[in-house]
Amino acid sequence: MVVVVSLGNSSLLASRIARGLGSKCKVVRVKVGAFPDRDMLMRYLGDVRRQEVILVQSFQPNPQKSLSLIQFAALGAKQLGAKSVTLVAPYLAYMRQDKMFNPGEVISARVMAKVLGVCVDKLITVDPHLHRVRRMKDLFGSMDARAISANPLIGEDVKKKFRNVVVVGPDWESFQWAREVASICGSECTVFEKTRYSSRNVKVKMMKQVDMKGKNVVIVDDIISTGHTVIEAAKKSWSLGAKTVRCIGVHGLFAENAISKLKRSGKLTEVISCNTIVHPSNKIDVSGIIVKELKRRKKSSKK
Ligand code: R5P
Repeated sequence: MVVVVSLGNSSLLASRIARGLGSKCKVVRVKVGAFPDRDMLMRYLGDVRRQEVILVQSFQPNPQKSLSLIQFAALGAKQLGAKSVTLVAPYLAYMRQDKMFNPGEVISARVMAKVLGVCVDKLITVDPHLHRVRRMKDLFGSMDARAISANPLIGEDVKKKFRNVVVVGPDWESFQWAREVASICGSECTVFEKTRYSSRNVKVKMMKQVDMKGKNVVIVDDIISTGHTVIEAAKKSWSLGAKTVRCIGVHGLFAENAISKLKRSGKLTEVISCNTIVHPSNKIDVSGIIVKELKRRKKSSKK
């Protein structure tokens, strides 16, 4: 039997995953309380002995708390006799700090990978920020860690809803997403070059010349955090004659109230995100691709 456990950040996604896995799957609730001094007290409200436990938890909101809940829930499930623990982290945090940018900085991506390595057996995540580190293997070593992509879903969504589209990657890093989305929806694609002067100040210029006049521009990025990248890319698109400018972020972090900033800028016709982080802009559901991956692994582990 497979047991799906939500740790709070992705409850709806967890129930969709459980439904997708079918009758051989049950949902077990975990109660997270605290002692008077605020030590965590976690309790499984169902039996996980000899079960394959699937923890579903996005790292947003609150990446620190999420990581500690995952550690307790994973090691706790094993204390209680679980056969294996798989973490489904639709959004995996700590990936952008993948090198020491300034002396003394901790490489968070490596710390996170080590921490997860000691508590979970398998990891499935959606479009992690693999840029300087290119492969999950390079970060997670021998751990069974797998990245799946929302690009096919985004591409199909764009194809279904919009015509006369130009897909834009707002920087070189996001071009990998933009190019794939464009090829799925059969549209043109371009990339901007981004210069980041600070975490809140970016400028972009077009690198691959594409005619945007009268076009429906779709900016595709893995992460929308403060929103500055998207706003600058949108400004540039309007100045090049775009008819509408939408953005699609796989992970809508919307830090520092970015969503109001995006709205106030008046530069976005629509802001769309995948449900890897719960937000009103969620229009693209990743539960299907996660279920498919879980089923694929189950099948291959039986062989
Ligand atoms: C950068 O490497 C990512 O792909 C995003 O472009 C970036 O995280 C967006 O950040 P912000 O929304 O703060 O400009």
